[in-house]
This record gives sequence, C-alpha cells and structure tokens, in this order.
Amino acid sequence: MFVLQNEGKLFAADYPKAMHDILGECSLLSATGDFHRKLKNVIISFINLTKSKPEFLHCAENISISMIGSWKSRGVVEFHKEVKMFTISVMVNQLLSIRPDDPARLYVLQDFLSYMKGFISLPIPLPGTAYTNAIKARKRLSARVMRMIKEREREEEEEMKKGIREEDFLDVIISNEDINYDEKVGIVLDILLGGFETSATLLSLVVYFLAKSPSLLHQLKEEHEAIRAKKGDGELLNLEDYQKMEFTQCVILEALRCGNIVKMLHRKATHSIKFKEYVIPKGWKVFPILTAVHLDPSLHENPFEFNPMRWTDKAKTNKKTMAFGGGVRACPGGELGKLQVILFLHHLVLSYRWKIKSDEMPIAHPYVEFKRGMLLEIEPTTS
Ligand code: HEM
Repeated sequence: MFVLQNEGKLFAADYPKAMHDILGECSLLSATGDFHRKLKNVIISFINLTKSKPEFLHCAENISISMIGSWKSRGVVEFHKEVKMFTISVMVNQLLSIRPDDPARLYVLQDFLSYMKGFISLPIPLPGTAYTNAIKARKRLSARVMRMIKEREREEEEEMKKGIREEDFLDVIISNEDINYDEKVGIVLDILLGGFETSATLLSLVVYFLAKSPSLLHQLKEEHEAIRAKKGDGELLNLEDYQKMEFTQCVILEALRCGNIVKMLHRKATHSIKFKEYVIPKGWKVFPILTAVHLDPSLHENPFEFNPMRWTDKAKTNKKTMAFGGGVRACPGGELGKLQVILFLHHLVLSYRWKIKSDEMPIAHPYVEFKRGMLLEIEPTTS
C-alpha cells in the first residue's frame, strides 16, 4: 500500500516497453500527473453514469439471458471463451451502441485479444510477432473508434433530433471539448481493455470455485431463487436486488482473493527512498505483488481455502483486498465488473447445474487462463 499511495510522489507507473508502444501516449496506463487525472476523470464519469443506469443493467441482463438460453441443447460449453464475448458485447454496447447481434463486436474482441498478447511479448518489430500483431490490432481499433467519432459528428444532429438512437458514451466523449481526438480514442480503448477480460475472468473463476464446492453453490442458488420468487415473470433485476445478494457478493470477493486476476503492478522509484530497513535507489523497478496480500496468513486464516464467509464482516473488507489496486491508480471499474458478473450468474444458477473436468484449474499465463478453457458440462434445471 505504501508504494501505491505514494504514486506521483515517490513512485510512478512503469509498464514494460511493449505495453507503452502498443498503448501509445493517450492511455491511462502510460499517462502520469495532471494528464492522468484528466483522462481518469472522464473514465470515472462514464463508469458512475453507467452503473446507475437501468439501461446498463437491462442490457447486461438481456445479453446474459439470450446467451444462456442459446446453450439449451449444447451439453458442453467453452465457458471462458463465451463469457469474454458476453463482457465485450456489454461494453461495446454501452460505449459505442454496437448491438449484440452486430458482427463488429467479434472483430473488436479478436483485436483486443491480439492487443493483450502483445503486452507480454518481446518488443520485436518483425512481421508476425505478437508485438507487431498487437501494434496492428491497436491501429485497427483506433481507426474504428476514430471513424465512429467522425461519422457521429456528421450525423449526430439529425439522428439525435429524430430520436433514432439513444445517447451513449461516445456522444458524451464527443461533446467534451477538453479532450482531443487521440485522447477520446484512448479513453474508449482503455475502458474496453480494463473492463472486458477482467470481468470475464472473474465470472469464470466464480463458476470454477462453485463447481468445486456444491454446498456453496446450493447456498448461492437459494439466495437467487429467493430474489426471483419476488419478481414477476420475466421481470428484470434492479440495483436493490443486487444489494440484497449478500452471499453472492462474498463469493465474488473470495473469488477475487483466491483467483488473483491482477497479480502484480509495475512501478518505478522516482526518488531514492528509505522504507523500513530498505533503501530503494532512484530508477529501480518496484513490483507490488497483490497475490502476496491475498495469500498472507496473518490477514486471511487458512488462505488457501475458498471460504466466502470470511467476507461477512463488511468493516474489514477494504483492508484485506487489493484486487483493484490502490492509490490514485486504483481501478475505477470494479463495481461495474461485479455487476455484470452477478447479472450473468443469476440466470446461470437458475437455469443450469454444471460440472467441470476433474483436472480443470486456473493457471497464470500470465493472465488467468484455464487448463481446459473452463469446459462446462451443463444440464438445464427444472426448478
Ligand atoms: C472485475 C475485475 C477487475 C479487476 C480485478 C481489475 C483490476 C484492476 C487493477 C489491479 C488496476 C490497477 C492497475 C495499476 O495500479 O497499475 C486496475 C486499473 C484499471 N481498471 Fe480495472 N479491474 C477490473 C474491472 C475493470 C472494469 C470493469 C473496468 C472498466 C469498465 C476497469 C477499468 C480500469 C481502468 C481504466 C484502470 C486504470 C486506472 C488508472 O490507471 O488510474 N477495470 N484494474
């Protein structure tokens, strides 16, 4: 926490060269100081606006219902792959009004996957390397968003006047005169980058841990059945329902702790620093390891046990979880991610029983992947 809270004073974010090259100057991850603050404020305003909008909840829930419904005769689903499509569909719909049946979301997803592979590659600018593919993917994504901005600027007035399209976040960004075109594109890509893979991984982790603990799955199902029992036929969930899902929230916190979606952060000492008995020379790289906090037995009794009940005491929650980082670079999207996960989980748990392969497990690759892609054997429930 010392490192994260001294961001901008004693330490600065310092991601590997490949990431810098791919992200460019107008990304939150490469930005520092006032520029970082300016971009982050725009992102925070998107997230706050989206979280509280019934349209967001309805969009995420309707996409969940339709995806889960399409599995009825499947028997087996490649869960992790499917839920990446779910989260990208929700995000591109909320940001850019790309509809869930529009093939554009497939191209966006593919480009983001290449983009992320490049982050962890050697920066070798030769044809066919992960690095070069990622640079190209970034260019295609930027060009797509830039094209949409320009088209919107041309069409905006007539369309909005005729009420053909509801205002989305791209409209809000376009009307912001304090940010230039490249910054606008960077903000859209940052939200997509930060938001789709992490939320999808969280969802897969929750389903994985529940598959391993039938009694917890039963308890979670009871919570969701109780909420559904009070709703009308086909009635969608609202924020009050979400707040009532207390056990589910504990399961999610525990999956974040045990799953360690972001294992460590990248920082650099901007001054020579004395911390306790250590001296960190100026310019040295510092890697705050979030996993170490999550598996520290002095903070979490039996840290290798998946036990959602450890989160029932809400007062202690913030002190023990670092899943969303901390300080000025803390994740602005955690709640939004959790909301998507819960909406999907609600329909999954009410629609299916599931089993995973006995040797399935999350692996750090270095992003969280699953040994068997989270192949899920599913069987529709009747209750
Ligand atoms: C649900 C799972 C998520 C996890 C575990 C997660 C984790 C993190 C962590 C650890 C950081 C800090 C990075 C650093 O300090 O260098 C971060 C930053 C960030 N996250 Fe998330 N995140 C999640 C969801 C989301 C979502 C849904 C969004 C967007 C809608 C989002 C957008 C961002 C952005 C824009 C940043 C950069 C913040 C900055 O540099 O100031 N994240 N995330």
